[in-house]
Amino acid sequence: MEVKIFETKEQMGIYAADIIENVMKSKEFPVLGLATGDTPITTYNELIKRYKNGEISFKNVKTYNLDEYVGLPKNDKNSYYTFMHEHLFDKVDIDSENIHIPDGNPADIEKFCREYDREIDDAGGIDIQFLGIGRNGHIGFNEPSDKFTEGTYKVKLTESTIEANKRFFEKESDVPKYAVTMGIKNIMKAREIILMAYGFNKAEAVKNMIEGPVSPSCPASILQNHPNVHVILDKDASSLLKK
Ligand code: F6R
Repeated sequence: MEVKIFETKEQMGIYAADIIENVMKSKEFPVLGLATGDTPITTYNELIKRYKNGEISFKNVKTYNLDEYVGLPKNDKNSYYTFMHEHLFDKVDIDSENIHIPDGNPADIEKFCREYDREIDDAGGIDIQFLGIGRNGHIGFNEPSDKFTEGTYKVKLTESTIEANKRFFEKESDVPKYAVTMGIKNIMKAREIILMAYGFNKAEAVKNMIEGPVSPSCPASILQNHPNVHVILDKDASSLLKK
C-alpha cells in the first residue's frame, strides 16, 4: 500500500484525479469503478474542472458504481443514481450507455447481480477503483462479517452504516436497510485502487485497514493483499497510525 497524507480535501482530490487521469490517458477504453458519499466529491470536482479545461474526456470511459440502495426510486434525491449524475455524469461528456450503477429495484436480484458481474468482466475488468471507507471499515457496502464476500449481492446494512447515512434523510427510519453492492472479490479484481479517507471519525477504520490483521471484521483490511493500492488520507484520518 502506498500511503500519502495531505493537509486538505482539495489536495487529496487533486492527487486522486492525477492517478485517474493517468489511467484515462493510458487506456483506449478506460473502465472506472466509482463510489458515492462525501469522500469522492473533491476528486469529482477536480475531474470536472480538467474536463472543462479540455485536459480529459470521458467519451471512451465506462463506469461501474460500487453500490445502490435497495427500495429507493432511481430518481430519489438520495439514490446513488441521482448522486452520480449531480456530482459527475451530468457535468462531463460521458455517454449514458457507458454508465453502470447497480439497480436497487430489480425484478430478480440474483439475476441482476450475476449480470452486473458479467458486464464488468466483459468490459475487460476495472482499471481503477475509487473507494471511501465506512467508520466500521466497510468498502462498498461490504459490512464487517465473518467472511469476505465474492460478487455483487444484496446486503443488509449495519446500524453503524444506517446511523452514518441518516444525515442525508429526514429521519433515521427513512434510511434504506438494504443495498446492492459489489463484493470484495469484485473490488480486489480491479487493477489499481484508490482508497481515500479524511476526518477523525475514519481514523480507527484506517488504522485497522493498514495495521490490523487481514480480517473480514474490517473488510478494508483485505486491501493489504492487493498489489496496487493508493491510500490517500488527511492528517486526522491518519492520526492513529503508528508508522
Ligand atoms: C459509497 C460507498 C461507501 C462509502 C463510505 C464512506 O459508494 O461505497 O463505502 O465510500 O460509506 O462514505 P463517506 O464518503 O460519505 O464518508
